[in-house]
Amino acid sequence: MKTVIYYFTGTGNSLAAARKIAGALGDCEVIGIASFANTAGTVVPDAGRVGIVCPVYFAGLPAMVASFAERLDTASARYVFSVVTHGGGGGSAALRQLDGILKEKAGRGLDAGFAVSMPGNYILMYESPAGEKRDRLLAAADADLERIAGQIRQETRLKLPNSPVTRIVKALTYPRFRSHVHGDDRKFTVSDECTACGTCASICPAGNIDLVDGKPVWNHRCELCCGCIHLCPTGAIQAGSRTGGRQRYRNPSVSIAELKRQRENEP
Ligand SMILES: Cc1cc2nc3c(=O)[nH]c(=O)nc-3n(C[C@H](O)[C@H](O)[C@H](O)COP(=O)(O)O)c2cc1C
Repeated sequence: MKTVIYYFTGTGNSLAAARKIAGALGDCEVIGIASFANTAGTVVPDAGRVGIVCPVYFAGLPAMVASFAERLDTASARYVFSVVTHGGGGGSAALRQLDGILKEKAGRGLDAGFAVSMPGNYILMYESPAGEKRDRLLAAADADLERIAGQIRQETRLKLPNSPVTRIVKALTYPRFRSHVHGDDRKFTVSDECTACGTCASICPAGNIDLVDGKPVWNHRCELCCGCIHLCPTGAIQAGSRTGGRQRYRNPSVSIAELKRQRENEP
């Protein structure tokens, strides 16, 4: 049976996860949620199995994913699943948020939801793991994803995970994130190390960056995915005073070229 997986990613973890599952399932289309950003109306997937793969932001969904889910009509799908990637926690609340949105739209929610731990990329708050630690995390995620793909192939129905602590964290942090996220790019700056290569503008899933005289200008439609900061080849983009010395991160199995395509309806 055909599967369609809709994904959102900043630094590649969720695309790597989506691709891994797609490879294990076969006959699977992998579509960037960002490619729907300039469209309107209900999205009806042309597949019996439907998945959403995205990162956890403040124990909830990225704003663009929540808006997309509100448009997604899964009523006629046989099996609906989600995989959320995260750096440490919050997956259960994000999955429950998605389940609620889908139920409201189509009267049916997730048949299964999975949270996979991957390297954290919220560089405004901490440094991403590097070296052996990063590799260990990715190897463990790979093993998790293999097991998860098996459950999806068998269309296993699972009760969604639940964590009262995570629910509280979401209640305390997510509303502020959602109300400020698009303007959070006001913290972003670019230094003279910028070579005007345009990578930041081309990988931004929100299409939020224009180049003016070769330098990035942010237009306050930010998703806070941190892709521009992590993927700038010279590390010229900062958010406040703390990101300067911090390690940059990109999922090593995902290329810049692939990240550029997420607004184009291509894996
Ligand atoms: C704005 C933002 C908020 C985040 N919030 C959380 C969180 O609440 N819990 C968590 O475990 N990881 C959090 N993370 C880390 C990401 O969920 C994690 O690194 C994810 O795998 C990144 O996926 P991507 O590479 O597909 O963008 C956050 C990252 C960003 C950029």
